[in-house]
Amino acid sequence: MAETLQKVVEENRQGEAYAPFAEDPNAFAKKFYIESYGCQMNFSDSEIVASILHNEGFGATRNFEEADLVLLNTCSIREKAEQTVRNRLQAFRKVKDSNPGMLIGVLGCMAERLKAKFLEEEKLVDIVVGPDAYRSLPGLITEAEGGQKTVNVLLSRDETYADISPVRLDSNGVTAFVSIMRGCNNMCTFCVVPFTRGRERSRDAESILNECKDLFERGFREITLLGQNVDSYYYTYPFENGVETRNVNFAQLLEMVALISPLLRIRFSTSHPKDITDDVLYTMAKYHNICKYIHLPVQSGNTRILALMNRTYTREWYLNKVKRIKEIMPDCGLSTDIITGFCTETEEEHQDTLSVMENCRFDMAYMFSYSERPGTLAARRYEDDIAEDVKKRRLEEIIKLQNNHSRENYLMDIGKTFEVLIEGNSKRTDQDWYGRNSQNKVLVFPKTDPNLKKGDYVHVKVLRATSATLIGEMV
Ligand code: 5AD
Ligand code: SF4
Repeated sequence: MAETLQKVVEENRQGEAYAPFAEDPNAFAKKFYIESYGCQMNFSDSEIVASILHNEGFGATRNFEEADLVLLNTCSIREKAEQTVRNRLQAFRKVKDSNPGMLIGVLGCMAERLKAKFLEEEKLVDIVVGPDAYRSLPGLITEAEGGQKTVNVLLSRDETYADISPVRLDSNGVTAFVSIMRGCNNMCTFCVVPFTRGRERSRDAESILNECKDLFERGFREITLLGQNVDSYYYTYPFENGVETRNVNFAQLLEMVALISPLLRIRFSTSHPKDITDDVLYTMAKYHNICKYIHLPVQSGNTRILALMNRTYTREWYLNKVKRIKEIMPDCGLSTDIITGFCTETEEEHQDTLSVMENCRFDMAYMFSYSERPGTLAARRYEDDIAEDVKKRRLEEIIKLQNNHSRENYLMDIGKTFEVLIEGNSKRTDQDWYGRNSQNKVLVFPKTDPNLKKGDYVHVKVLRATSATLIGEMV
C-alpha cells in the first residue's frame, strides 16, 4: 500500500513524461519530439525550446518514430530520475537503428551534470545541451546534421530567456507556467540543482508581466510563477543616467501580476521557509485571485539534520512560519517536501519529522528517501550511512502519516463550498468537470449547466472526499 502510494507520489513529482503536439506539424519542414522529466521548471523550459525550434522550421509531433529530432529534457534530482532517462534512451535506440538520420538530444540537468561524458556513455546521443544553452540549439543541430556530436553546457549568470515567447505544449488552454527566475544560490547539501542550473538570476519584471497579460488575453485563467526559490526574486531595472531606477521584489511582482485581472488566478512555486516574508503573505491575503496555497518544503523536522542539510532554519523557525501563514490566512492550503534517511539521521530525529507533520497537518507532501548525488556538498562531506531498508521503513512511516492527514483534511471539507476554476473533463468521465479550488485541492462535479466551459469559475459544494479528490455539486 505504502509502496503504491509512494509510486504515485514519485510519478506526480517527476511529472508524467509528456509529448507535445503542434496543431499542424506538417506545416513545418521538419518534426521534433520532446519529452520532459523532473520539476515544472523543466516542463517550462521545454516550451522555450519548442519556441526556438519553431523558428528553425521544426514542428512538434507526438510520435517519436516520425521525428527528425528527438529530445529528452532530463532531471538529476535523484538517481531514479536519471535511471528513467537511461531506460527511455534504450527505447529510442531501436528507432534510430532503422532511421540513422534521426538526431537524439539530451537537455536539462542530466546533460549539465554529465556533459561530454554523456556522449561516451550513451553512443546514440548526438547533442548534449545544458539549461542555459538552449539558444545555441539551432547551431548544434546543424553541426549534428553534418555528422558531428555536439555539446554546449555553459552556464550563464544572466540568461533568463526573457524575450522568448514559450510555445505552450499540451496545454489545456486554462493554466500555464511562467518562469520568473533561474538557478539557485541556496546550496542545500543534498541538492544537485545549484550545480546543474547555476547561479540564481531574476527575469525582467516587464517581460513577465507582458507574458502573463498575453496569456490572459488568449483565454488562460491561471498562472503559476515558477522559480527554484521564488521568494528571493529581485529584479533591478537598468540604470538611467547612472541612477538606479526601480527594484521589484517577489511581493511586488505578485501584486503586479494579480492586478492584470481579478479573473486571472496566480499561484507560485517553490518557496523557501527562510525567505518567504510577511509582505508576501499580506499580498496573498489582499488579493482574492492570489491562490491561498503554499508549497513550503520542510525536508526534516530536526534542527541538527536541517543544519547538516544547510537549510539555514531550525525546526522552531519552520513551525513559526507555518503559524504565521495560518494567522494571516487561516484558510491557506499547505504542502511540503520531506527527505528521510539523510546522512546520520537517528530514530529520534526521524520522530521529529513525524512530529512536525503532526503539528503542520499538511494537505499534501512529496516524500523521498535520500539519494546521494555525485558532486553535492553532502556527497563530499558526509557518509550516506543509513541502510536502504531503514530509509524505506522511515519513508513508509512518513507516507502513512501523511496519508492520514490528507484524508482527514479532505474529509473536513465536506459540506464546504469553494470557488473552482474549470480546467477540463474529469479523468474518469466527460460527464464531469475537473477543477481546483484556491487551496489547490482537486474537485470533480457533474456538468449540470450546459452553458459552462473550461476557464469558467463556479461554486461547488463538497459532498464526498477521498484523500486526493473532493467530489461535489455546483450550487
Ligand atoms: N535525495 C532525495 N530527495 C531530494 N530532493 C532534492 N535532492 C534530493 C536528494 N538528493 C527533494 C527535496 C526537494 C525536492 C525537489 O526533491 O525534497 O525539495
Ligand atoms: Fe530535476 Fe532539479 Fe533539475 Fe528540476 S532543477 S530537473 S527537479 S534536478
